[in-house]
Amino acid sequence: MKNNNDLLSIENLHTFYELRRWGFIKTGNVRAVDGVNLQVKKGEAISVVGESGCGKSTLAKTVLGLVEPTDGKIVFDGKNISHMGKEEMKWYRAKVGYVQQDPYGALPPFMTVKKILEEPMTINGIHDPREQTRHIHEGLTELKMTPVEQFLNKFPHMLSGGQQQRVVIARATIMNPKLIVADEPVSMLDASVRVEILELLRELQEEHELAVIYITHDLSTVSYFSERIVVMYGGKIIEEALVDDLLKNPLHPYTKALLEAISDPDGANVKTFKKVPGGEPPNLLNPPPGCRFHPRCEFRIEGLCEKEEPEDFFPEENHRVECWLYKE
Ligand SMILES: Nc1ncnc2c1ncn2[C@@H]1O[C@H](COP(=O)(O)OP(=O)(O)O)[C@@H](O)[C@H]1O
Ligand SMILES: [Mg+2]
Repeated sequence: MKNNNDLLSIENLHTFYELRRWGFIKTGNVRAVDGVNLQVKKGEAISVVGESGCGKSTLAKTVLGLVEPTDGKIVFDGKNISHMGKEEMKWYRAKVGYVQQDPYGALPPFMTVKKILEEPMTINGIHDPREQTRHIHEGLTELKMTPVEQFLNKFPHMLSGGQQQRVVIARATIMNPKLIVADEPVSMLDASVRVEILELLRELQEEHELAVIYITHDLSTVSYFSERIVVMYGGKIIEEALVDDLLKNPLHPYTKALLEAISDPDGANVKTFKKVPGGEPPNLLNPPPGCRFHPRCEFRIEGLCEKEEPEDFFPEENHRVECWLYKE
């Protein structure tokens, strides 16, 4: 839903992975992101949910400029990121922080916490050691890694998973970015520290008017980032709404199935995706024609859903769904 104060605007984005045999014979495309439109306002936090393999990480990497889009446009703060030169790309990398799923893999093993946090500043022209130290102290204090001195000379392997992820977040936010892309930031951490890390992210978001794209397969955590939620299926966003509207009134049969698959509706902590009944997610190398969900959908309209890709419908204000059931 486009708006003038969008910080990020993703338009008709496609990211395919080309498969080749012997390195040169093209054998097909994995349509990991296949026509995504998404807008994020300044300071807004949104959640992207969907089963494994639906294209969430590819969407994240394309937004971060780590993977080339096949088609479509990404506009950040009024600038088209695919037309950026080297200097502008450096600026962009500083303005958009990345928090990966695996904090240990994200941190260089032979660098101390201090060195890890100095690096983005050095790259972006902050060379004054006093200024660097000040930023590092502020960053680690905000992430509740105190006393700071106790952590500065530690190597990643000397930290717990939760502490490693705090360092990743500190590194992602040290240049005062406008957007954080957090791709399953707590799914590899112990359950006991997940909430804490999500709360820290939420605090940073509010404190600094940061926009956050929070990617997860775990519905129980979206309420920590509760403005808006988008549901991905087979490389597409099939439903988008405010979190409360979506949880109270899911429209797409897939979203409904996801919510019904939640094993215990009373237990706030067990809202994890169970396998949606009716088969497997689509193979994105050869997705089904029409609506990608139709082979699993108990409400499919014969003669339509298996042939035509659904359009956007808005059955409620600010509630978008790609499903033929909502055609007037
Ligand atoms: N580098 C790659 N080359 C080929 N296919 C890939 C690559 N990375 C991901 N894929 C495929 O793209 C699809 C989407 O993957 P991904 O974006 O990782 O989804 P998610 O993060 O939702 O699990 C999957 O079918 C996956 O196998
Ligand atoms: Mg992923």
